[in-house]
Amino acid sequence: MSLLTLLRKRRSVRRFLNNPVPQRTQARLKEACLRAPSGNDIQPWTFYFVENPTLRATLSKLKPQHAGFLRQAPLCVVISASDKGCDTWIEDCSIATILLQMAATDAGLGSCWVQVHKRRRADGSSSEEYVREAVGIPVGHRVLCVVALGYPALEPKTIPAEKLLWDRIWRM
Ligand SMILES: Cc1cc2nc3c(=O)[nH]c(=O)nc-3n(C[C@H](O)[C@H](O)[C@H](O)COP(=O)(O)O)c2cc1C
Repeated sequence: MSLLTLLRKRRSVRRFLNNPVPQRTQARLKEACLRAPSGNDIQPWTFYFVENPTLRATLSKLKPQHAGFLRQAPLCVVISASDKGCDTWIEDCSIATILLQMAATDAGLGSCWVQVHKRRRADGSSSEEYVREAVGIPVGHRVLCVVALGYPALEPKTIPAEKLLWDRIWRM
């Protein structure tokens, strides 16, 4: 599949079949994460591949809205990084996240980015701290997002090319 075909296919998926993601597919996803470029090649990240249902249920409560479906996603990947001596951790983790999502699309999986960084729980506490403690991520490490992954319950629709915001592109 060409890259543009994959890009056309990728949509956020929030409802999944119960089928687990096979280990050989997970190995491809892991490789995609680790092949991401990073500022100064620091590679500040750590990726946590979570299948444990109890931990997924805990992650689903990381913020009051837009995260509940993590409970039903057969695989959740927590994207974290050390920001010590690394001022590009957000960019580095964002690139790795989208590469993970594209590798997932290529493998026939659906995925959705769930934002953690700068988000708060209902009681006002930090979603980052909540996820860090739930997963056992070292103190001081940052958490950008959690990606929900699994086989889509419904095949998402491609956005037709004519609906794209072509006027946001300037030729000079
Ligand atoms: C930085 C970022 C944060 C996002 N956070 C969430 C989120 O917390 N929960 C969620 O359900 N979707 C989240 N999304 C998915 C967006 O809602 C989705 O990408 C957008 O609506 C466009 O739809 P599409 O991915 O199907 O093209 C996020 C996407 C990005 C890039």
